[in-house]
Formats: sequence, structure tokens, C-alpha cells
Amino acid sequence: MLNIAVRAARAAGDIIVRAMDRVDLLNITVKSRNDFVSDVDRQAEHEIVNILLRAYPSHAILGEEHGAQGLAQSDYVWVIDPLDGTTNFLHGFPQFAVSIALFYRGKVERGVVYDPVRQELFTAERGAGAALNNRRLRVTKQKGLSGALLGTGIPFKDQSYLDPYLGMLKALLKDAAGIRRAGSAALDLAYVAAGRFDGFWEIGLQKWDMAAGVLLVQEAGGIVSDLEGGDAYFETGNIVTANPKLHTPMLELIKPHLTEQLRYRGG
Ligand code: IPD
Ligand code: CA
Ligand code: CA
Repeated sequence: MLNIAVRAARAAGDIIVRAMDRVDLLNITVKSRNDFVSDVDRQAEHEIVNILLRAYPSHAILGEEHGAQGLAQSDYVWVIDPLDGTTNFLHGFPQFAVSIALFYRGKVERGVVYDPVRQELFTAERGAGAALNNRRLRVTKQKGLSGALLGTGIPFKDQSYLDPYLGMLKALLKDAAGIRRAGSAALDLAYVAAGRFDGFWEIGLQKWDMAAGVLLVQEAGGIVSDLEGGDAYFETGNIVTANPKLHTPMLELIKPHLTEQLRYRGG
């Protein structure tokens, strides 16, 4: 199943790279405030879904651009972000990726994040580790925030939690060596798995932004939680992830800035 996901991610990557030098000719639609989609996102997702369903016709699909199909009929669900980092792509800023995850009975079992510009293929299989171009990945051993390089995403669509977010940013910025906002959550998570980032946090993500990346981090030995340290990151869309030694210090600095809106109220 991982091989099929890799084939689909590479095929989508080819579509994206071919379109890179004709971005000005693309049809671009605004889905909601600051949320854009182009023909390339749709074509790439179409190609991924075709490849997956050809191999596994009974599996269900949850794709960012085409929505859900067959969720009630299968225990297997492919969660797809055909182009994570659309805004970067549309600006020719070369930081974006294809993200494909396979859930079985609600748990992520396989994950692929593919950066078609650098041709970096991040893969993870539950229980079997994470790899970059077939080389095993480990998170860093960074102990505290001092000297740490963190990744984040600045809330730009729903800005209702901008103030608490800026509080968190300020708190973490004081101690960390640096914070980067690169523009693709899937790659940010892959970079935590690869030890390029010591940690990463973001508010307001969707399942397809993070599913494959979550498994990459976990299989590389990292910790993934919601903002309160629980495991409701898919439900809340809020995520904090780091190596096991850095995760708690990050949560402690985030905690004072939690508002009611940011707390998990589910069961
Ligand atoms: C976005 C990217 C970005 C994150 C946004 C996502 P998209 O995905 O992952 O880094 O901050 O919240 O929506 O829209 O480019 O697929
Ligand atoms: Ca995305
Ligand atoms: Ca996308």
C-alpha cells in the first residue's frame, strides 16, 4: 500500500512541477478568505485518486479538493492533500508537497509526503519507521528550547485566534534559536521527523495537512499532541510536536495562552 501511495505522490508531483513555470496561466479560485485553489491542485488530486482506486477500488477517499467518497463502506480511508502549500506554489516559492495518508479503522497506518522540487520522498509505515529517500529518520535529541529551531504556521485564514497565537509565538521566541514559517504543514512535520526542526506547532489545520506528517514524526521517535498535551489533534486541528525532551517545555510555554476556543471540548 505504501508503494501505491508513493506512485500516486510522484505522479501528482510531476503534474505540479510541470505547472510551475506557467502559474500565471492557471485558473485560480478563492475558496474562502486567503484560501486559494488552482487547476493544479484539482488535477493532482484527480491523478492520486485514480491511482489509489485503481489499486484498491473498495477503499474510501477524503481529499481536500474533491471531498469524501465511500467513508461508510470501508475501514480504509486515504486522506489526501494534493498540494500542501498552494500559496507558496502560486508565488513560485519552492516549498510545497503532496501528502497522502492511509487510515485503517481511524488510525494512520501509512504516510507519504513528497517534495517534488527537491525530490525528497518522506515515507512512514506504522511500526516500521520513517524514511527520507529510503534512509531511516530520527527526531533530534535537543533537550530544551535554548538552541532549538522550531517551525510554525501563522493563522492566516481564520484570524480569530491570532492573539493567543501571537502570545505563544512570543513565549517560544524568547528561548528558541529561531522560528520558521515555511508555508507547508506537511513538510514542516516531515522536517521534524528528519531532525531539521526540533519542534513544530500550528493552530487550525485540517486532517489532510497533517495526517501523513503525524505518522512520520511518530515513527521517527517524536511526540505529537494537541495544544493541551492530549491526542485530539485531528479533532481540534491544533498540533504540537517535538522530540520527547522538547515537547513538554513547548507545551508549558503554550499553555498560558490557551483560550476557551482553543481547548478541546469533545469526549
Ligand atoms: C496550508 C499549509 C500551510 C498552513 C495552512 C494550510 P494548503 O495548506 O499547510 O502551511 O499554515 O493552514 O491550509 O491550503 O496550502 O493546502
Ligand atoms: Ca494543506
Ligand atoms: Ca492543499
